[in-house]
Amino acid sequence: MDSGYGITVLTLFPELVREYFRTSLVGKAAERGALHLEAVDIRSFARDRHRTCDDAPYGGGAGMVLMAEPLAAALDSVDAQARHVVFPTPSGFPFRQDDALRLSRLDGMVLICGRYEGIDQRIVDEYVHEELSIGDYVLSSGELAAMVIIDAVYRLREGILRSESVREDSFQDGLLEYPHYTRPETFRSRSVPEVLLSGHHARIARWRREQQLIRTAEKRPELLQHVQLDEAERKLTESIRTKERDDE
Ligand code: ADE
Repeated sequence: MDSGYGITVLTLFPELVREYFRTSLVGKAAERGALHLEAVDIRSFARDRHRTCDDAPYGGGAGMVLMAEPLAAALDSVDAQARHVVFPTPSGFPFRQDDALRLSRLDGMVLICGRYEGIDQRIVDEYVHEELSIGDYVLSSGELAAMVIIDAVYRLREGILRSESVREDSFQDGLLEYPHYTRPETFRSRSVPEVLLSGHHARIARWRREQQLIRTAEKRPELLQHVQLDEAERKLTESIRTKERDDE
């Protein structure tokens, strides 16, 4: 991996983000020079002596809105007009593995962490390339969402992990992952599935694919629409879905 990938996080809680950088695998990658990480304190760009960064929303309503001016100054300080700017928000497009892959192929990104009710829309209009939601729930701030996005993206950059373990991730092939086992062979009278001890690679691969299909049909049937299945696989997943409907 080249050292050209730059991640900048604009936040009111730089210590939180720096702690993540310091203690995580993404931080280790940065130490090796594999990427550049930076947390910028939005508050240091506030203009008044109270360092105010939020204000009441025009039109009334609960909560506070992150003001345009300090945020714009923070964005300009990191040359955001020339970079890919991501705003994590529950109102964004759903963030998926495909998006992580797409973002990992750029030369980096700037993430804006919102607080309160949100950020002034004019910042979104002027600087933001994409708004991403990490799930259908509302967090109290954007930092956790930004860390989720960073984590998913950085690990896809070449050379961070063995290419094999990235390839077999859940979602990389549109299916959930198969179950994993390690020693001991028997734990509280639960044995590792026979096939995994067989040393028979083709049988193991077939079993794993089957487990992926079963898990996906049970937990995330909607994902199967996008996966190429052969006739036997289609029957298997159909039978699980029929059984689930019968059980309801
Ligand atoms: N900020 C608050 N909640 C969020 C979510 N679900 N996704 C992205 N950013 C958020």
